[in-house]
Amino acid sequence: MWTIAGASTEYTVAADGDRIDLMAWGPRGVSDGPSPFAFHGKVQYLLPGDVAAVEYAPDGLRPFLGADLAVAGQVLTWRLGSVAVDDGLRATFTDEVTGLRVVLRWRFAPGTDVVERWAVAHNDGSTPVVLTRLGSAGFNVPTPDGALLSYLCGQWAEEFTPASTRLTRGRFEIGSAQGVTGHQFAPYLAVDNGDAVYGVALAWTGSWQITADTDAAGLTRVRAGSALDGAPVTLAPGESVTTPVAAGAYSADGLDGLARQWHSYGRQLAGDRLGRSRKVIYNSWEATTFDVTAAGQLALADVAASLGVETFVVDDGWFVGRHDDHGGLGDWTPDPAKFPEGFGAFVAAVRSRGLEFGLWVEPEMVNPRSALYAAHPGWIYQADGRPRSTIRNQYLLNLGRSDVYEFVLSTLDELLTAYPITYVKWDFNRPRTEAERSVADLDGAHVRNLYRILDHLRVAHPDVVVEGCAAGGARVDLAMAARTDVLWPSDNTAPLDRLRIQHGFLSAYPPHLMSSWVTDADGMFDERSRSLAFRFVLASAGVLGIGADITRWTAAERAEAAQWVARYKAVRDVITLGDVHRIGGPDEARCAVQYTLGDRVVVLAWNPGGLAGRDRVPARDIRLPLRALDPNAHYRCGDQTYSGSHLMAVGLPVRWTPTHDADLIELARMPAV
Ligand code: DGJ
Repeated sequence: MWTIAGASTEYTVAADGDRIDLMAWGPRGVSDGPSPFAFHGKVQYLLPGDVAAVEYAPDGLRPFLGADLAVAGQVLTWRLGSVAVDDGLRATFTDEVTGLRVVLRWRFAPGTDVVERWAVAHNDGSTPVVLTRLGSAGFNVPTPDGALLSYLCGQWAEEFTPASTRLTRGRFEIGSAQGVTGHQFAPYLAVDNGDAVYGVALAWTGSWQITADTDAAGLTRVRAGSALDGAPVTLAPGESVTTPVAAGAYSADGLDGLARQWHSYGRQLAGDRLGRSRKVIYNSWEATTFDVTAAGQLALADVAASLGVETFVVDDGWFVGRHDDHGGLGDWTPDPAKFPEGFGAFVAAVRSRGLEFGLWVEPEMVNPRSALYAAHPGWIYQADGRPRSTIRNQYLLNLGRSDVYEFVLSTLDELLTAYPITYVKWDFNRPRTEAERSVADLDGAHVRNLYRILDHLRVAHPDVVVEGCAAGGARVDLAMAARTDVLWPSDNTAPLDRLRIQHGFLSAYPPHLMSSWVTDADGMFDERSRSLAFRFVLASAGVLGIGADITRWTAAERAEAAQWVARYKAVRDVITLGDVHRIGGPDEARCAVQYTLGDRVVVLAWNPGGLAGRDRVPARDIRLPLRALDPNAHYRCGDQTYSGSHLMAVGLPVRWTPTHDADLIELARMPAV
C-alpha cells in the first residue's frame, strides 16, 4: 500500500495481483481504515478488474466496464513489475506478447491538493505496437447513492455554462473531436457523492474525452484522456509516448471549494509568472473589427492612455490582405496601406502615449486567398480525394509538420524581434476537419508543437504576455493554463451573458487567467442593459480590459472609466491572487464574488435583476454572506465596521437602485485591540 500526500489531502493505492487499485482519497488520515472499495460479492459474468477501483486498466483486465488502454489486434493484459516512490509514485507494468511497458505516474502538484496522473507507454518489443486507446488515468469515487455530475458546457458565445446530471447507472461522456479543446465542454468533471466533491480535469489541447461509469455496486469511475479520433498511436520498436496529465482534486466544501483547489493548481502552473501584475489592456477588435488604420488606432490609444490603460492591443486586421475574414491569414506582414508611416513608427506612436504594445495573431491558420497558401498548399490538413472544408473561410495548417512548425516559430520570433511587442493574443478560429487518419497520433504532433512554441516564447521573449484565445473560449484547458498568461473565455462581452460565462469559468480556472473587457455589446441571450459601472465591475473579476469604442464615450463616461481603472489597479493583487468565494449566482438575487488576500477582502457584486421590481420599489437590502473570515475580527468598509461573524452569518448589505446595479466593495480586517 502506498500513500502520497498533498497540502491537506492524501491518496492511497494498493497492489492487487496485476492491478493497482485506489484504497482511499480525501483528507489526511482517510486511508486509516478499511477501503470503501473492497468488493465482497461474487464477481459474476465479469472479471475482477471490472468491479475493482482500478487506477488504470488495459482492456484484458477490465474488458466490460471501461478500460484505459487498448492495442490493435489483440486483448491486452500485463504484469505489474515494480512500484517506486519518488516525488510521487511510479508503477511499471509489462506485456511480454507486445513488448509494451507502461509506467503509471501519480504525484501531488507541489503545495496543492491536486493529484497529477499520467502514463508513459514504451515499445520494448521488436514490432510496432498500435495503441487504439490511450487514457491518462482513471479516478474512482465511492457513490453509494449514485453520482451528481457537474460539468461546464456551451457553444460559441456561451462557454462555461454550469450543468449537472444525476448518474445512478451507466455512462456519461463529454469531450471534443475537433482537434482542439472546443466550446462544447470544458475538460472538467465534478462528481458529488453527497459527502464530498471529486474533480477531474485534463491538460490537453487536442481532442479529448472524459467519461464517468457508475456501476451496480456504488462506484463511479471517471476516465480522462486524449481521444485518438480513429487515428491510433503507433509505437515503433524503441519509441514511447507520454499521455497528457489528468488531474484530480478533492473538496469537502462543494463545487466552490473544488474551484479553489483548481485555482491553487492554476496558480502553481503559472509558476513565477503569477507574481506579475496583470496590466489593464485596451483591445480594438469590437471598436474597429477589420477596419484597422494607424489614425483610427491612435485615436483609440489617445483615449485609452487617458483612462489609465497600460497595454494597447491591435486585434485582427493589421496585416496584408486582411480587409475581412476572406483573406490574409498566413501573410504576417503589416499592411503598408493601413500604416503609411510604417508599422514601426505606428508602434512607436502608441508607446509614446505611455502604452505598451500588443498584437493579435492566428499563426496556425491560412486563408486560401493568401501568398502563404499559394506557396504551400500542402501545409494544410487534408485527405486525398476529399473536399476540404473551410470554416470562417480558412484552413488549418498542420503544425505537426516540421516545416509548418518552423514557419510559425520564425513568424513569431520575427514579429517579436522587429517590434517592441509585450503582448500577443494567439487566436484559433476553426477546428480540424479533414485529415489523413493513417497519420499516427492525429493531434499529438500538432498540440505538442504548439506547446513547444509557447514554451519557446517564454524563454526567448520572457517579457511578452501571451493571451490564449480560440473564437472565444475554445482553447481553455490546464495545458494552456500552464503556457499562457491569460485566456479569453468568450467572444460574448454583453453584461448579463458575460456574468454567467465568468461564473462558470471560475469553477475551473483562476481569475488571473480570466481576460475580460468592458464593451458596448448588447446581450445575445439576455438583452437587458446594464450600467457602465456594472460592466467595469464585471470585467474587474479577472484581468481588466476595455474593448469598447472609447472615442464615442462621453467625457462623463471617460471620467467614470478612469476611476474604475484606478480602483481596479488598487485591488488587482487581491483579485488575481486571493481566495475566491462565489456567493449566489447570476440567476439568484445574490450575485457576488469575494476575493480574500491576507487582511484584505474585495467583493464584486452585481444586480442580475432576477426578481422583477426588486430595484424599483423600497425593499430590504440584499445581504451577501461572506466566507472564511475571522468571526471574532472586525472589518472596516468605508465608515462602517462589521464583525466577521455578522458578515458571514447575516451578510454584507448592498442596495440596488435602477442606476446602481453593481459595486466593488473593499473591506480590511482591523487590527485586534
Ligand atoms: C475571435 C476572437 O475570439 C476575437 O476576440 C477576435 O480576436 C476575432 N477572432 C478576430 O478575428
